[in-house]
Amino acid sequence: MKNTFYVTTPIYYVNDVPHIGHAYTTIAADASARYHRLKGEKVFFLTGTDEHGQKIEKTAKSQGIEPKQLADRVVENFKKLWKVLNISNDDFIRTTEKRHYETVTYLFKKIMENGDIYKGEYEDWYCIPCETFLTDSQLVDGKCPECSRAVEKLKEESYFFRMSKYTEPLLNYIMENPEFIYPPSRRNEIINFVKQGLRDLSISRTSIKWGIPVPGDEKHVIYVWFDALTNYITAAGYPHDMDKFNTFWPAEHFIGKDILKFHAVYWPCFLLSAGLPLPKRVVAHGWWTVEGQKMSKSLGNAIDPFALTEKYGVDPFRYFLLREVPFGNDGDFSHEAMIKRINSDLANDLGNLVKRSVSMVEKFLNSRYELPLNIGIHPSLAAHFEETIKEYDNAMLDSSFSRALEQVWNFINILNKFIVGTEPWALHKNKREEDLKLVMSNLMEGIRTTAILIYPFMPETANKIFRTLGINEDLESYIKNNPMAREFGKIGGTFQVVQIPDLFSRLEEERKKVTPSEMKREEKNLISIEDFAKVELKIGHVISAEKVEKSDKLLKLTVDDGERKRTIVAGIGKFYTPEEMIGKKITFVSNLKPAKLMGIESEGMILAASDEKGLSLVIPEKDVKAGSQVR
Ligand code: MSP
Repeated sequence: MKNTFYVTTPIYYVNDVPHIGHAYTTIAADASARYHRLKGEKVFFLTGTDEHGQKIEKTAKSQGIEPKQLADRVVENFKKLWKVLNISNDDFIRTTEKRHYETVTYLFKKIMENGDIYKGEYEDWYCIPCETFLTDSQLVDGKCPECSRAVEKLKEESYFFRMSKYTEPLLNYIMENPEFIYPPSRRNEIINFVKQGLRDLSISRTSIKWGIPVPGDEKHVIYVWFDALTNYITAAGYPHDMDKFNTFWPAEHFIGKDILKFHAVYWPCFLLSAGLPLPKRVVAHGWWTVEGQKMSKSLGNAIDPFALTEKYGVDPFRYFLLREVPFGNDGDFSHEAMIKRINSDLANDLGNLVKRSVSMVEKFLNSRYELPLNIGIHPSLAAHFEETIKEYDNAMLDSSFSRALEQVWNFINILNKFIVGTEPWALHKNKREEDLKLVMSNLMEGIRTTAILIYPFMPETANKIFRTLGINEDLESYIKNNPMAREFGKIGGTFQVVQIPDLFSRLEEERKKVTPSEMKREEKNLISIEDFAKVELKIGHVISAEKVEKSDKLLKLTVDDGERKRTIVAGIGKFYTPEEMIGKKITFVSNLKPAKLMGIESEGMILAASDEKGLSLVIPEKDVKAGSQVR
């Protein structure tokens, strides 16, 4: 087994501003890269931008600029975002770079030499935004199945890749390597797709200028997906630095579910043809909606990762995305859910644990503590940690980030309970110095090891915890120098705690904003003024009242409505006696269809307010004549 780890994100199109979806894949890949670095592996983490193709060509044209100018401008947004989000990529590839031209050209030629590329003519439906040719059967209502936009018929001379030849080899590979596609549900989708038999793939265009030319036939440019997928081996050094390539390749590709086919079908077939090893894994995550809605430009700030990190902080944002939804499932981003996570998991569980513990060391032990290796390991905490790290490692290797974080939070809760159970303040009060030291040293060890577990997700917070624990070294280099420090109770040392500002601050729970769909629902419950005008409300004078036989709820009232006497049966018997009703001026609905209650015809309904204490009649504040209208 190689002690190296190569992880990639998709390369992002340069015609869009970065949104949560882009941030999500990149943060997940970053967490994975950081995790593997802590385990002492040599990591190569790649991200970048996809700068060729019709989509970019069109967008640039609409802005009156050259595609390269567009790319040069937009690439900066991505680079800036990765800086803000603390992304630790080792390389950033742009498909317009020379090194990439060379690799794409080399790979194309190699596949051609192997007899897997031939010239033909292509005609089919084409979705420009998705850069995809589609067959009749793939269209949904005549539109693109991915983006539901209109498609165009396109016919052109084209080079084809003999993908049909790789149906069997690819299927065998997928069957023999169950971990190749994650999650399993997506794996089954791909298996079913490949089983239907693969079609040869058109891999060049004459209708587009913006791309890498086909070697020896420059009126064609290479299909943008052939170009884009190749970035993964360009950056790994293929073919110009085969030492590097052999060190790192194959990679784990982190992607969104929408581009799985390109990564788990097309890409492996190109690699098979070129005689190169296939990717180690293709990990497809689900899609985010925002406040229950599909993301769109009109949602503006709601999906802008710059604005969100400004509001909530970088680490809480990273934590939320990987904790809230199991990787692979679709998820919904809402401010309410984000604030809940910050208040409960971060400020309350983790923040308080660290703050309380450091304060106790400061107060009871003059700020100094020793690690348990020096003075005694608390067996129950050590056992809990061992269990935690086992499950955590399994989850991390499986890309089940939310499961890994659940394990960490279980352990945090155990540490919080440990404080309650051991009552360090009582030990201090009763002068049980040795017991106090033992408890505090184990608690600090628990916090130190927790920091290491959260590091891949919240690197800045983990480093802050190290600082408050008095460890004056960056966490990653500390673990490199002390590999045993990833375990509980395996290293010793004396430290001095340092007070730092709170790790997280609690946020006010926002009043839930009404989303457009809820608004629609509420609109249905609203009535117009015309509807209200249909109800005729009047003041009536109660002339007589009596109980309705066999009912403790109903009273039979005789009411003067200004014109005549009418009978109204009212359900107020539990709160008003007949005697106290006589003489009252009440409000009633005068145009209600008569209805029989206990055999008595009631011609109207009197109004009363109700709360937990009972009923209260709605009565005019001044004396008004019977028959007065209420509006
Ligand atoms: N350029 C191609 C990838 C080429 S990789 C060799 C591309 N670029 S993209 O910018 O359109 O999309 C990049 C990633 O963003 C995809 O993995 C996609 O799944 C992801 N997301 C786009 N919208 C998303 C959500 N609403 N939610 C989560 N991820 C989403 O495709």
